[in-house]
Amino acid sequence: MKETIVPVEWKGDFVKLLDQTVLPEREEYLEVREIRQMWDAIQRLCVRGAPAIGVAAGYGVALEMQRHVSDSIENYHRILEEALDYLSTSRPTAVNLFWALGRMRGVGKQYETESNSVCQKYLEEEAKAIERYEENACIAIGENLLSLLEDGMTLLTHCNAGGIATVRYGTALSPMLLGQERGIHFKVYADETRPLLQGARLTAWELQKAGVDVTLITDNMAGMLMKQNKIDAVIVGCDRVAANGDAANKIGTYSVAVLAKHHQIPFYVAGPVSTIDRNAKTGEDIPIEERSPEEITCGFGKRTAPEGIKVYNPAFDVTPHELITAIVTEKGIVTHPNQEKITALYHNG
Ligand code: MRU
Repeated sequence: MKETIVPVEWKGDFVKLLDQTVLPEREEYLEVREIRQMWDAIQRLCVRGAPAIGVAAGYGVALEMQRHVSDSIENYHRILEEALDYLSTSRPTAVNLFWALGRMRGVGKQYETESNSVCQKYLEEEAKAIERYEENACIAIGENLLSLLEDGMTLLTHCNAGGIATVRYGTALSPMLLGQERGIHFKVYADETRPLLQGARLTAWELQKAGVDVTLITDNMAGMLMKQNKIDAVIVGCDRVAANGDAANKIGTYSVAVLAKHHQIPFYVAGPVSTIDRNAKTGEDIPIEERSPEEITCGFGKRTAPEGIKVYNPAFDVTPHELITAIVTEKGIVTHPNQEKITALYHNG
């Protein structure tokens, strides 16, 4: 069993968060005690990765509402609505944030005629249920991906879709981590993932820690490796999948998908059903976060571009469904995804 790194942990009166901004140099944890701190932790990427953001948001709401249990019922529910709206502004792309907040909102509505302490109990239960759901989904995604792979294959991944972006095994990294426990070994190339280096700082750290054979490359090396027949499959995570199967993931994913298509390498997108947004008809409807220019001009405190230079810094891109060999979820594998097949997924169990 690999050492379990818990990115988000409910502690009853605070939430313990792994501060992913200081990895791999330091393994430090934040004690989040109020909602503004949770908003800030999500915004600054202390907690990041679509499923982990959803889990953190659920706990953030539960935590905030603890402070209002002795308010009037009316006040408690007004503040609950404010808390839900507030956390929904922390990041725009990963739909798990809105999915988790929607679940918390549903519980608030369901118990709005009960006492605040009853509603509070169910809010906390719901936040825990969201975490359990994501953990089980990661295991099922790993099993499904393992059914597509063979022992000894060489895989490429982009960004970080491991245990620290989700719960426990990750999505894209789940077959590598599960496989490692079972004696199924893969060689993994990790794209460093400009500009915030989630591949170098997080994926390389996580896989190395688990004993997986991982090699770090810069983003612009993937094409050459593919041309040299060194990559058997690409596996990436996702932040929001549209109803037609277009998938938003960390910037650079689209380029890898185009390269994979050219080299006839399977390109798998791994994610729980909570990452599918059926209200987004196509990738065009997915909001793409733009982040601060300093992430590019002054990353990690070192100025690497002239003062005053114009910068464009979208944090995500959308891979059209035509480039995706399969979307691998906990409910099944959607090969050559399209709207019909994505809809059918909802009828699987
Ligand atoms: O900006 P981040 O670090 O939150 O982005 C996360 C990603 O895009 C990851 O690649 C991941 O695949 C999606 S969450 C498992």
